[in-house]
Formats: sequence, C-alpha cells, structure tokens
Amino acid sequence: MKIAIDGPAGAGKSTVAKQVAAKLRFVYIDTGAMYRALAWASQQEGLAAIDEHAVSTLLEKNRIKLQRDDQGDAQRVWWNEEDITAEIRTPQMSQLASIVAGHPRVRALMLDLQRALAEEGNVIMDGRDIGTHVLPDADVKIFLTASIEERATRRLAELQQKGVETSLEALMEEIAERDKRDSEREVAPLKQAEDAILVDTTGRSIEQIVDQILHICQKTGESAK
Ligand code: CDP
Ligand code: CDP
Repeated sequence: MKIAIDGPAGAGKSTVAKQVAAKLRFVYIDTGAMYRALAWASQQEGLAAIDEHAVSTLLEKNRIKLQRDDQGDAQRVWWNEEDITAEIRTPQMSQLASIVAGHPRVRALMLDLQRALAEEGNVIMDGRDIGTHVLPDADVKIFLTASIEERATRRLAELQQKGVETSLEALMEEIAERDKRDSEREVAPLKQAEDAILVDTTGRSIEQIVDQILHICQKTGESAK
C-alpha cells in the first residue's frame, strides 16, 4: 500500500505521517528533507541556490540517505557520511529548499530517488507532488491544509522550543512566500491531486487527524479486498 500526503508548509504532514507510519508499521519517507539536504549541501559548497546546473550536478555526485530512527526524529537525514538531521530544520533552509526544488533537473533526479525509495514496500510519503507526480497511483492520497495563521503559529512554537528567535509575522511571510513559489513553479507544483481527499487541520488535534487518516486507509484496504 502507498499513501501520499501533500500540502502547504506547516499543515502537519510530517507529524501526522510519522504517527500513521508507526501505527501501520509502514516506512515513512519525508521528501521535503531531501530538498532541504540539497539546499544545505549547496550552501556548504558555496553554490547559489538559483544555479540549476551547479545544484543538480551536486545532487548527481553525492548521496542523500534517509534512515529510520524509532527513538528520535523518526527519520535521520544524511548527506554522504554526514548526519544533517538538525541542520536542515531552519527557516533559511526552508527557503533555500524551495528555491532548489524549483529546478526541473533537480526534480527529475529527486523523482527517480523517491520512486526507488517507494519500492521498499508499504510506504507513507509526504511532500508537495507525491499524489500528482511521484506516486500518481498511490492507494490513498491526502491533501492536508490549515489556515496560514495556524500553520505559522505551529512553526513558531516549534522553533521557540529549539531556541530559534523569530516572530509570527516573519513566519507568516516566510510561509506565504514559500507556498507561492511552490504553487507557481512550472514542474510539479504544489497542487491537490484530483483524487486526493482534502483534510483541513485548522483547530484540530494531531490525534484527530491521525485517526481520520487511519480510518481512510482502513476503508481503502477493505474496499480493495
Ligand atoms: O510537515 P509539515 O510542514 O506539513 O508540518 P509539521 O512539521 O508536521 O507540523 C508543524 C507543527 O504543527 C508541528 O509542531 C506539529 O506538532 C504541529 N501540529 C499541530 O499542532 N496540530 C496538528 N493537527 C498538526 C500539526
Ligand atoms: O516542513 P515543510 O512543509 O515546511 O517543508 P518540507 O516538506 O520540508 O519541504 C521544504 C521545501 O521542499 C518545500 O517548500 C518545497 O519547495 C520543497 N518540496 C518539494 O518541492 N517537493 C516535495 N515533494 C517536498 C518538498
């Protein structure tokens, strides 16, 4: 079974996907982490994120690894031999990830990597183009959203916990800018797949959303029998 979860920044995709994966014993694949890893490496190499040739060549010549971690963050992210799980979760990396994700060559390479990862069996994958491009035949497709105020408020709480100083206004601006860039790019933009179920998480708890998605998966599983 393949489950695709897409939606804008801060909708709750990764939090919910991790919990659904744990409950169903599925492999969780965070595709956003792959774009973040490339953004981080590009910066380390002193490359401009807008340089499609340089950034895509960097991706071709190196290796991103997603490793399951049941104790901590559910998934560790490696760039070759370096664990960059924590480094990629900053507002700067969010923005740079969305710039490198706009390059068609980068997306073509990521598509191959992500489809290969999905071959691992039962998977739940989250991102922006999973239901539309990466796994168009996914058994379950969910499009998660929430109001921008709520998404920014969630991100603020998360960053404050990590000691990162920022404001609600700055985060609302960052998220709006990124959603716009992600929705307007030519290749595989952020968009609800025609056959995806829209789930609005505004004002709802993580537990409620997880239960709703488990219910959808169960119904899909039963109707496939
Ligand atoms: O992956 P995505 O950017 O869509 O969002 P996330 O990183 O999973 O969630 C952002 C934050 O919202 C996390 O701190 C979650 O704990 C929180 N959240 C929430 O408060 N209520 C929900 N229904 C879903 C997520
Ligand atoms: O956690 P959050 O929703 O803020 O972002 P993310 O899922 O980690 O993704 C970071 C950036 O990577 C997004 O803003 C997109 O530009 C890009 N991305 C993408 O283009 N396609 C995907 N399947 C996943 C992420």
